[in-house]
Amino acid sequence: MLSSLKTAARALYNLYPIATKPGDFLRDPMPEALRQHEASGEPSLNRVGWQLVTSAQMEGPLYERWCTLARDTRVKHRKVWEWVYILEVLKQHGMLAEGKRGLGFGCGTEPLSALMASMGCEILATDLDEATAQKQGWWKTHQHAGGLAQLNEAQICDPDLFARKVAYRSCDMNAIPNDLRGFDFVWSSCSLEHLGSLENGLEFIERSMDCLKPGGVAVHTTEFNLGTNDKTLETRATVAYRKKDIEGLALRLIGKGYKIPLINFSPGDRMLDRVVDRPPYRHSHLKLLVSRHLLTSIGLFVVK
Ligand SMILES: C[S@@+](CC[C@H](N)C(=O)[O-])C[C@H]1O[C@@H](n2cnc3c(N)ncnc32)[C@H](O)[C@@H]1O
Repeated sequence: MLSSLKTAARALYNLYPIATKPGDFLRDPMPEALRQHEASGEPSLNRVGWQLVTSAQMEGPLYERWCTLARDTRVKHRKVWEWVYILEVLKQHGMLAEGKRGLGFGCGTEPLSALMASMGCEILATDLDEATAQKQGWWKTHQHAGGLAQLNEAQICDPDLFARKVAYRSCDMNAIPNDLRGFDFVWSSCSLEHLGSLENGLEFIERSMDCLKPGGVAVHTTEFNLGTNDKTLETRATVAYRKKDIEGLALRLIGKGYKIPLINFSPGDRMLDRVVDRPPYRHSHLKLLVSRHLLTSIGLFVVK
């Protein structure tokens, strides 16, 4: 009853969206210091950069192969794209190989740890401690890892190999312990927007670099606001990054001597790119309205 009321309230609120189409500001030139990072053309998974999810990236054998390996049937969903983006970035940097050490944050029940372990990686998967996850509702919605068992639910990795390769511990992304160091790669999917503020998420990305060896790769996906470069969604529970926040992050990371790739803000314009989902959300969407904001997913990676 309460959840239907909440859904109805959200639907009513979204009757007056701030935008239903990606804004023209996405095509504005980036700050001078980022000009050499400006991508041209449509984003592709064959040459990954910082990019938004688009329908075109979901066509072809590369995307299909990862979906098959992840045993996910939703396929044309931005959440699945986020996992594929992370896997493809790591593959292109030679990280999905025997003996490479990976650290996952806010892992929930995602299939990535199992898939990486099946490819020979040694994984430390982490998530919020159980009591806080229960308080924040992650437990109730089956979005919290809770332990090792949930991470290989789909039996993606042979259970013996999984037991040898994957460890689990709780970790607050707002307070990464100092002993989490020396990894080849770190990742998070759909988690850093839940750290309490825009700045907390950005600081998390910066601090996740401390966990890497030189030459290591950090890859993260999060929420991006397509409708405005002005006032965005920022609540304790969820935030959505604007073009200017992403550009600011790029400058911060470059300033610290890290390497970032080309940045592409193209939202795509195929049929599926033009569909905007509203509450109650359907299974397959790339763009959706949340609290009147038009949101999508963005993938980011940084090399130390
Ligand atoms: C939307 S779920 C995403 C789960 C998983 N990464 C996926 O892609 O399916 C958000 C995750 O972030 C975790 N989370 C939220 N706040 C966190 C924090 N402060 N530290 C660590 N994890 C956090 C939640 O427990 C949950 O697992």
